[in-house]
Amino acid sequence: MDPAETRLITVDRDAPQASAIDEAARALRRGELVAFATETVYGLGADALDPDAVARIFAAKGRPATNPLIVHAADVDGARACVSAWPDDAQTLAEAFWPGPLTLVLPASANIPPIVTAGRSTVGIRIPRPEVARALIRAAGRPIAAPSANRSNGVSPTLAEHVRKDLDGRIAMILDSGPAEVGLESTVLDLSGVTPVVLRPGQVSSAEIAAILGRPVFESTVHAPASGPYGLASPGQLAVHYAPRTPADWVERLDEGVARAEQEAGVGLLVIGRTVERGSGTILSLETPEQAARELYATLHAWDELGLSRIVIVPPPDLPEWRAIRDRLRRATGPR
Ligand code: TXA
Ligand code: MG
Repeated sequence: MDPAETRLITVDRDAPQASAIDEAARALRRGELVAFATETVYGLGADALDPDAVARIFAAKGRPATNPLIVHAADVDGARACVSAWPDDAQTLAEAFWPGPLTLVLPASANIPPIVTAGRSTVGIRIPRPEVARALIRAAGRPIAAPSANRSNGVSPTLAEHVRKDLDGRIAMILDSGPAEVGLESTVLDLSGVTPVVLRPGQVSSAEIAAILGRPVFESTVHAPASGPYGLASPGQLAVHYAPRTPADWVERLDEGVARAEQEAGVGLLVIGRTVERGSGTILSLETPEQAARELYATLHAWDELGLSRIVIVPPPDLPEWRAIRDRLRRATGPR
């Protein structure tokens, strides 16, 4: 099935119209793909219990079958139905952070089809925060598998328009409830081993997780494919991921970044965590971690439309509050 027309339906984020939710839920139950906003980025949803529906996600995104999907639930009972173990740590973190931008990797229950987990024994689950997302999952009456709603390896969408640009004609429906408020993908935390491991940094930091759990948390932020019998801990750890189409360079020093923007034609300068005098539309600084998270992807999407020859990115300082942003910038500027 390759839907020729993608329907765009506007819906209120906090008080979603029942008619829109019903229509989207019916599409999901028919095995179709529906994009919707979570607090992090727009997700591309399918019925997580229907392998054919999930296969359409991989086809629409051009996603390798080796990269597992996050399953979204409306409440803790729904999340627990997707896993075969619910350790105390999971309960503690669910109470502290759900609904919210934290994905927990736990042993998968037998009802989760292998295509969702890419054949692994674990599944990533989370409860998204916006009412529109949870209303949709409730109305569908089943867990919803949803990667970010972009073509594989591209920049995640924070607006319905980003989804339309990328996936128009490939999915059934987009629910437009405005911008995703966090703007960066969820923290992925592996709870399936002895020690909790952050596989992807996000707004929920490893320090916060460690404080809530009362024990250390490892960070596994690999930037190059590790070889070995088990491959990568998380396929999202590939060096190039989340990259704009325009070539992007990581330039450590602000004065060097400014010089390159002044000397070379068609260069956009994006300065993170520092202020820069704004000389034109393509010199931009994102100053706080919250602002940078919210606006980074929208900026990369917009700048991809400008036909720039290059984007020069001056990264923020190497401090804990910037970890998730630096992780995404490394990937956006990685080798291709
Ligand atoms: O904020 C988010 O997490 C968004 C919204 C839509 O929820 N979703 C998202 O999905 O970013 P995606 O597919 O773009 O990224 C999911 C990440 C990938 O790096 C994937 O490899 C990892 O989570 N992941 C999923 N299941 C996993 C598992 N069982 N074990 C290890 N990593 C897993
Ligand atoms: Mg993604």
